[in-house]
Amino acid sequence: MACPPVAVAMLVAGNWKMNGTRVSVDALTSALAARAHACEVLVIPPAVFVPQVSAALSGSTVALGSQTVSEFESGAYTGEVSCTMALEFGCRYALVGHSERRALFAESDAQVAAKFAACKATGLVPVLCVGETLEERESGETEAVVFRQVQAVLDACGVGAFADAVLAYEPVWAIGTGKTASPDQAHIMHAALRERLAESNAEIAGGLRILYGGSVNAGNASDLFAERDIDGALLGGAALDAEAFEAICAAADAEMAR
Ligand code: PGA
Repeated sequence: MACPPVAVAMLVAGNWKMNGTRVSVDALTSALAARAHACEVLVIPPAVFVPQVSAALSGSTVALGSQTVSEFESGAYTGEVSCTMALEFGCRYALVGHSERRALFAESDAQVAAKFAACKATGLVPVLCVGETLEERESGETEAVVFRQVQAVLDACGVGAFADAVLAYEPVWAIGTGKTASPDQAHIMHAALRERLAESNAEIAGGLRILYGGSVNAGNASDLFAERDIDGALLGGAALDAEAFEAICAAADAEMAR
């Protein structure tokens, strides 16, 4: 049975990945901070820029997030940033399980689940990223792969942990490739994910924001947002361009006003 999403503010999140300089980050942040949107806007800079961006966002409604966090509280984990540190420097959100972390840094489903749990334990809102590779899609495993990724978190944290969390469906083959999933392809997976969670708790599933990510741009955002189960976007490339980012936020505003 289809599980209808309840009305929540759409979320447009920009992951800047390992890009930017002090100067470009300042320019981008001040352009975004100057505008007001009905949708929620989130920027996710490289960790070293977090204090700079946090200061520039003060007084604006744009939220700040961390690109990754450690599953550990503190200790001898060279190079890592804890959830508490991210919170102390103004982050409200953290990406968990982005496909680049899974593929390039060998993050397992279990480690991703531990990071999700660490976020929930400290009050950081996890944005859990799931998605299949092209090979997995072509061999008909899309649903099995994304369900496995979500199940690892359900097993470790329980469905209650998805209240006030965010899910992002990002087909790996669409990330940074210019190939977007069609609104239909995206919607099928979003609806399937919501239904899967509704089997455990319909209320939490209905209130969960499920973002789409993978080559979202100013030209395709409106069509994606028009799909019922798409509650926003996780941007990569488009988030580095203030105008494109703004246009995508405006598309979310327009969808919310429909
Ligand atoms: P992209 O990246 O928009 O550049 O495809 C999306 C992401 O990695 O979240």
